[in-house]
Amino acid sequence: MCGIVGYVGSQAALDVVVDGLARLEYRGYDSAGAAVLADGKLTVTKRAGKLVNLRDALAESPPPQSRAGIGHTRWATHGPPNDRNAHPHVDCTGAVAVVHNGIIENFAALRVELEERGHELSSDTDTEAVAHLLEEEVTKGAGLTEAMRRVCGRLEGAFTLVAVHAGEPDLVVGARRNSPLVVGVGAGENFLASDVAAFIAHTRDAIELGQDQVVELRPEGVTVTDFAGAPAPVKEYHVDWDVSAAEKGGHDYFMLKEIAEQPRAVADTLLGRVGADGRLTLDEMRLSDQQLRDVEKIIIVACGTAYHAGMIAKYAIEHWAQIPCEVELASEFRYRDPILTRTTLVIAISQSGETMDTLMAVRHAREQRANVLGICNVNGSTIPRECDGVLYTHAGPEIAVASTKAFLTQLVAVYLIALYLAQVRGTKWGDEVFAMIQLLATMPEKVEAVLGTVEPVRELARSLANERCVLFLGRHVGFPVALEGALKLKELAYMHAEGFAAGELKHGPIALIEQDLPVVVVVPPRARPILHDKIVSNIQEIRARGARTIVIAEEGDETVAPYADTLIRVPAVPTLLQPLVATVPLQVFACELATARGHDVDQPRNLAKSVTVE
Ligand code: F6R
Repeated sequence: MCGIVGYVGSQAALDVVVDGLARLEYRGYDSAGAAVLADGKLTVTKRAGKLVNLRDALAESPPPQSRAGIGHTRWATHGPPNDRNAHPHVDCTGAVAVVHNGIIENFAALRVELEERGHELSSDTDTEAVAHLLEEEVTKGAGLTEAMRRVCGRLEGAFTLVAVHAGEPDLVVGARRNSPLVVGVGAGENFLASDVAAFIAHTRDAIELGQDQVVELRPEGVTVTDFAGAPAPVKEYHVDWDVSAAEKGGHDYFMLKEIAEQPRAVADTLLGRVGADGRLTLDEMRLSDQQLRDVEKIIIVACGTAYHAGMIAKYAIEHWAQIPCEVELASEFRYRDPILTRTTLVIAISQSGETMDTLMAVRHAREQRANVLGICNVNGSTIPRECDGVLYTHAGPEIAVASTKAFLTQLVAVYLIALYLAQVRGTKWGDEVFAMIQLLATMPEKVEAVLGTVEPVRELARSLANERCVLFLGRHVGFPVALEGALKLKELAYMHAEGFAAGELKHGPIALIEQDLPVVVVVPPRARPILHDKIVSNIQEIRARGARTIVIAEEGDETVAPYADTLIRVPAVPTLLQPLVATVPLQVFACELATARGHDVDQPRNLAKSVTVE
């Protein structure tokens, strides 16, 4: 949700900034802009639309060479996505330029105040007020860094800000509250960005910025303070992936690459977590076995695709660990009065580790003294930093806006947690738990096998490109899989798509069934006849009413064949693990159907990868 880049050093700043923006475009693509500092002057170029529009404008009218610059790619919050509202924003004198990610909640009051003092604001954004406030402080005699500290003290809400001032040519200043900002440390050059992907081509040495910190970036070094100006401790780390992980690697889209990477991502997330004795070791979680034995209730909070992983977690946790478990949309959690105690474990699932709704749920849970465990993919991001414990997924960078490999690794993480809880608490499923841990190790090859057989799914998707609606049905863990299939189709193909619990069909949704309506049905394994046979009846019911049935069923399940217009086979695995294989054809289906409709699957309209506003 908005990508930010800052650079100071010996390279051509504009090139570094624009290349960085290209790697952050997944965070928002409503507009893009850059400001460079040369000869005591700021040159700002910005354009509505994708980065290519900015590149064209820069090619038409190249700014002067510069050693310092900032850039922004926008996901619009305040004001429509046009040139005027694009960042960077400058003050009336043109001396200060600023880019921002987040929402400044008191911007209306600040704006009135600035106008009363004679400032003319020329955009509809909350950000522009910051440029004017910075200019006022600089005019009073503060350097840009001190001006930033003073202004931050006046802002409410979530913000990452990066600014430059015409009078301080070798300086870029950043500030962070609630939205992400990382420093890239180079030799004679330094970087600021919302995500390490922006500077990974230049350096893999990074510094995590904490809450309410201001960073001063000069070619020769980096200084971090709190908003009061006191030196702040910094945490340095080395990024363990390289630039190739943030590139398409021969695929047309990041999404295709990320779907293909799933066997590796699943294997990496399992790596080192199963001991030679076949038992799980998750010491890295930072929660003691005693704390886990004391848990009386689990509440999972997450959004979107991560929420679907949470729904599946509930089945796994209640079955293997036998702990009551609720799942809640993070955006709803703190607005009711959830009953939390010291024996409640809240699990927050987030790929980015920055989703504001999930972060706020984490904070609320901690305020109520619950233990909070994060499942996150981005090392050092805000949510894992604020949780009591964390289990990282190892999907590598996920750049396509629609989550694929992160989802599969979230599933692996929740299975590991459910099985680990069962292991430390010694539940009655000891043998089954042991067998499941062994089976998990075979999942990468099962996912690989699915990927090897998806060509017919692609053909099917292309044949449905002109449909208006697709329904998805599932039971048990197949229900969240159905929801995930529908979500992928909505966000990528902009089609009406709904997922239903198959048992709910007769309570309303069956009225939607009409002649030739495509309905995807996820069939549970035959090993659970109580689930399997009921869904076979559901397939017959919708087929009798004219639906075109697309059935996902395990290899060897012949009972469904007579009722399936299209049959998609997945490897036979235990019911609880089936989402790992059954989701993959649905990802491919949505991706192909969207592509056939001419959409950019990496950057679906109106969306952004990391949602850092509530
Ligand atoms: C859908 C998708 C979103 C995210 C959601 C949560 O494909 O990607 O629904 O799952 O915005 O994001 P994280 O996991 O970063 O908290």
